[in-house]
Amino acid sequence: MTFIETVRLNDGTLMPRLGMGTWYLGEGRRSARTEIAALRAGLDAGVRLIDTAEMYGDGRAESLVGEAIDGYDRERLFLVSKVYPHNAGRGKLRRSLEASLRRLGVDYLDMYLLHWRGSIPLAETVDCMEAAKADGLIANWGVSNFDTVDMKELFRVPGGDRCAVNQDLYHLASRGVEYDLLPWMHDHGVPMMAYCPLAQAGSLRRGLVGNAAVRKVAAAHGATPMQILLAFVLRRDDMIAIPRSGTAEHVLANWAARDITLTDDDLAALDDAFPAPTSKEPLDME
Ligand SMILES: NC(=O)c1ccc[n+]([C@@H]2O[C@H](COP(=O)([O-])OP(=O)(O)OC[C@H]3O[C@@H](n4cnc5c(N)ncnc54)[C@H](OP(=O)(O)O)[C@@H]3O)[C@@H](O)[C@H]2O)c1
Repeated sequence: MTFIETVRLNDGTLMPRLGMGTWYLGEGRRSARTEIAALRAGLDAGVRLIDTAEMYGDGRAESLVGEAIDGYDRERLFLVSKVYPHNAGRGKLRRSLEASLRRLGVDYLDMYLLHWRGSIPLAETVDCMEAAKADGLIANWGVSNFDTVDMKELFRVPGGDRCAVNQDLYHLASRGVEYDLLPWMHDHGVPMMAYCPLAQAGSLRRGLVGNAAVRKVAAAHGATPMQILLAFVLRRDDMIAIPRSGTAEHVLANWAARDITLTDDDLAALDDAFPAPTSKEPLDME
């Protein structure tokens, strides 16, 4: 089956389904040159979506992304950033947004997310997001780390139903969102952006990468376990994934995971090893 490259947002915008995360980039784990080369390898291969946040390295990830995208066609890119909860109110949100735009070297974001819920009322954040949209500084806005109860509350706020995406932790070994959040989001036309789709290279769940079922499915596809984790998340066509890598080799391996279609037998084996939830579970977060 051919990979479905985009998902349609509630305003009709097509958002790429596979992008690049940037947490910990720009923080010296590798040289800036290597990390910029990794992001550019992705862009050159066809990746259009980049996820970042004002929080990441106190803006250093956004600055690194700004360097990486310099010279690329802005219109082809889909840039997502996030505002700290304590900045998601009147006056402050605009300042945060303008600082993110400056670091990224662009004049609008495709998507701006509330990073997680804080004490500023949702209605105020929605107003600020809508004002930024009206002024052309963002094309869309969404939320992150919202569970079902939060989404329902958001949708009761005036304009809250314009929320375009919800970004939550989701990977093969953390499937709690499948119980009632994903069905609710599906019914309301809100796609999920899956963060930590690789369970941070497996470190979030011991035994995940070495699991016999994961390894067997990987071998059957001539793929790596990491690519199978990604293919698992992307099996749903209302799911967006933003794996992060600081190396070109891994960025390209992740991009190539679009070519993997898991069979019913693969999915049954993965389900056996990492069952879907049968009751409500607390939202997993990083
Ligand atoms: N909204 C939120 O609250 C929130 C929270 C967490 C993350 N996020 C976003 O989601 C993105 C992804 O999550 P994440 O960065 O925490 O974790 P992740 O993408 O699940 O895993 C990243 C780790 O996997 C390794 N890796 C990547 N591709 C690989 C491959 N093909 N083979 C082997 N190893 C590979 C990376 O190392 P190498 O650099 O060596 O490849 C890195 O150690 C973040 O970067 C961020 O943009 C959002």
